[in-house]
Amino acid sequence: MIVPANYHGREQAFVKHRLLETYLERLFMIIGPHQRNIRYVDCFSGPWQEGSHDLQDTSIGISLEIMRKCRDGLKNRGINVRFQALFIEKDKRAFEKLEAHLNSYTSSEVITTAYKGEFYDLRMQILNWCKQDDFTFFFIDPTGWKNVVEISTLVPFLKRPNSEFLINFMYDNVLRTHTQKHFNEHMRAIFGEVPDTDGLFPEQKEEYLVHLYRKRLKEILPSGSGKPRAVSVPVLYPTIDRTLYHLVYLTRHPKGITVFMEASEHLDLIQRRVRAEAKQEKRESRSGQLELFQASENVSREKRADPAEVKAYWLNRLSTSPSYFGIHELADMLEETDWFESDFQAAFHELEREGKVQNLDAVRKRRTKFIHFSTGERLSREIS
Ligand SMILES: C[S@@+](CC[C@H](N)C(=O)[O-])C[C@H]1O[C@@H](n2cnc3c(N)ncnc32)[C@H](O)[C@@H]1O
Repeated sequence: MIVPANYHGREQAFVKHRLLETYLERLFMIIGPHQRNIRYVDCFSGPWQEGSHDLQDTSIGISLEIMRKCRDGLKNRGINVRFQALFIEKDKRAFEKLEAHLNSYTSSEVITTAYKGEFYDLRMQILNWCKQDDFTFFFIDPTGWKNVVEISTLVPFLKRPNSEFLINFMYDNVLRTHTQKHFNEHMRAIFGEVPDTDGLFPEQKEEYLVHLYRKRLKEILPSGSGKPRAVSVPVLYPTIDRTLYHLVYLTRHPKGITVFMEASEHLDLIQRRVRAEAKQEKRESRSGQLELFQASENVSREKRADPAEVKAYWLNRLSTSPSYFGIHELADMLEETDWFESDFQAAFHELEREGKVQNLDAVRKRRTKFIHFSTGERLSREIS
């Protein structure tokens, strides 16, 4: 079984938590050597629908564990980072559980604070807690959107330097309401306009709405200190083939985008296995018969993109005079297409074998990839 029993019936939370866990760990280990303080703010912390008393299946338990682990890992490398975490929750009972957990969580490794109340009302208090310059990761995982995901609500956070965001964009809600007159005002608050998706196919609508939201978020980030960047990963309903929400990641660091997309690629396989298992359970409970094989075992890694499309993208992007492709260019490509780095690597390799493109720096180094974006390499199209 992929999904532990305490996540049954909320498999999407399992997928979300695996992404949070994987990405936070990589992020903290990468930025740790360059920061004295790292702050983490869970703006809608819960606990919510938790299946275990120790909150290990909530963003609270998961983030604290990752911060503790990273603090230890960095310390072993002689790097001392102060981790501080802030949790926001409005519900009285949930807040009591949160406080009780934080009181029992005695660790000098991570300093914790909790504020009870509406996120909207607490915004200035949260920003004061973050201090001026400390790197801060904001996790924004609400249950609704009013006074939450609208740009005007988030502006004070988006304008803060040295910040990264993971925002749960409730795509299915937006999809169902964005064409209704009654919700026009909400849509303007979220997108800056009422999105016109008339005549688009479902997958085109999804791409359009998500990219529009990402674009709006990026527009608010202050200029300077790096180009604003955003990518997202879809989380689907466990047993219905439809997107429930997108986790939108916002940063100014191209490396953040590449690492987040690596984590998303890993998640892609987990998500497909989780959904295969959930669908099998549903079939079994309907038929009253257990199936012979675990459906999740037959799920394998699949390419997100059509290889022909990725090859066409490369040919369009390259010219016969060599161009430099480094981490900034890779981040641009990931943002633009929503494909994974492995899609680009595989398509480039295929084109190389067909004699249509070349990597001018390929011969110089020992190779683990066809293109080493981390160091940057010169690529070109062959003259045909
Ligand atoms: C989706 S749940 C959070 C789940 C949690 N992030 C996790 O992954 O385990 C959202 C939480 O935010 C709380 N909440 C909803 N609206 C809020 C608001 N306006 N201000 C503060 N908390 C809010 C809810 O009570 C709920 O506990």
